[in-house]
Amino acid sequence: MIDADKMKALLGDCAIGSPLLCMEEVDSTNLEIQRRRKAGMGHGLVAVAESQSGGKGRRGRQWVSKPGCNLYFSMLLCPDLPLSETSMLTLVMAMAVCRAVRRQGLPVQIKWPNDVVADGKKICGILTELFLERDGGFYVVIGTGINVNQKEFPDPIKQTATSLLDRLGHPVERETLLAETLRCFAKLYRTFLSAKDLSALRSEYEALLANRGAQVEVMDPQGSFFGIALGIDDRGRLLVQKEDGSIEPVYAGEVSVRGIYGYV
Ligand code: BTN
Repeated sequence: MIDADKMKALLGDCAIGSPLLCMEEVDSTNLEIQRRRKAGMGHGLVAVAESQSGGKGRRGRQWVSKPGCNLYFSMLLCPDLPLSETSMLTLVMAMAVCRAVRRQGLPVQIKWPNDVVADGKKICGILTELFLERDGGFYVVIGTGINVNQKEFPDPIKQTATSLLDRLGHPVERETLLAETLRCFAKLYRTFLSAKDLSALRSEYEALLANRGAQVEVMDPQGSFFGIALGIDDRGRLLVQKEDGSIEPVYAGEVSVRGIYGYV
């Protein structure tokens, strides 16, 4: 189980992860945060679990949560932001994971908008959910799964998933990685909130962007197209240059983007 005392010492006065809830098993850490919010808890709460029986992925998928080797955690945020701007938080979280994983010596990248990848394989997934409250306010739950010390992956995801252990060849202490991720997020979050957009973070995000300058396929239910991924705008939209030279800002939502070769 994640060592709560070690985490406390590593987090110090970090605003994110205070309080920190360490659990053995839960259905989903995102659901746990919702329950805790209903019970009155506030901004900064983080829930981390050793295993999840109903881990949730994006697009209604399942996040298979092998016990004892990875990180599964969610945070509660009550940001001073217009509701329409909250989707950018998921990009901020991806940057935090990259900073923390890179400090472990692994040069990860971001598959827009928020998958973290290593050598073309997914190492971290982020599920951001927004909830409206009775008083007209709202809160955001950012749930993150990082494959840390998982040795093998089951057949359906074998080709597309990896872990820090798999890439680095040695195990990584989960408490160190979690504390580092939360500290990085807290710092990036402050920068993000001061502008209420990604203008101050954009160049770092773009430097981390897999497929930058490469051809991608934008798979949109309204119609797919190919183009060159140029970067992002201040609101986190992917800028894709079409064959006719025009630049299309792509919203995350229902759209998915991938390079023309393989998963990333
Ligand atoms: C994705 O599909 O890429 C997003 C996966 C998000 C998984 C994490 S694990 C911790 C948190 N709790 C959940 O139920 N899901 C997120």
